[in-house]
Amino acid sequence: MNENVHVLNHPLLQHKLTILRNENTSTKDFRELVSEIAMLMTYEATRDLPLEEVTVKTPVDTGTFQTLSGKKMAIVPILRAGLGMVDGVLKMIPAARVGHIGLYRDPATLKPVKYYCKMPADIASRDVLIVDPMLATGGSASAAITFMKEYGCKHIKLMDVLAAPEGIERIQQEHPDVEIYVAAVDSHLNDHGYIVPGLGDAGDRIFGTK
Ligand code: PRP
Ligand code: URA
Repeated sequence: MNENVHVLNHPLLQHKLTILRNENTSTKDFRELVSEIAMLMTYEATRDLPLEEVTVKTPVDTGTFQTLSGKKMAIVPILRAGLGMVDGVLKMIPAARVGHIGLYRDPATLKPVKYYCKMPADIASRDVLIVDPMLATGGSASAAITFMKEYGCKHIKLMDVLAAPEGIERIQQEHPDVEIYVAAVDSHLNDHGYIVPGLGDAGDRIFGTK
């Protein structure tokens, strides 16, 4: 793994991720935890946001302080499971716009199939944070990054809760310019392309469809 891969090994993240992994965790708890994890991960994924100085008069004195310099951002969830992370990210970056990419992984070929795409009009000028709980083969994330580059986006980050080494390697090879943020990297993929030990099908567990 190169320096573009950030494994956010924070105790709160690891604790919440362990509950997510448990097959007995309810849909309600799973959904809430994905949102909380996304919020905590956003803290790290935005560490390089530029700041500028402003003058503020406090009740005691006037001083010069730092404020965000107003960089325009877009959150791009990969439907459907990525939707589960949007609320958490927006709690940290409430002014961000949200673009949607609909992709599902064909269970036979494991290749991503695109079925929906809707972006803010000025997406090319925004910094993009693609969110999806799972980075397995990396096919879905790599396709999503390619779409965003076709829109003209120059600064793209990828944020996944859980990754397989295979997915990370693929993004590093196909998109070496993209920084990757994950809470953990698991052992490997099984024959069905599921992360082992993983947490199962994130979309089904967020939306209660299984
Ligand atoms: C899951 C997950 C990722 C993708 C990861 O979505 O949310 O988008 O699989 O796998 P990959 O790295 O091998 O492409 P899925 O296709 O199950 O669709 P869903 O979000 O609608 O459940
Ligand atoms: N998608 C999921 O939801 N889970 C996996 O383990 C792999 C892909």
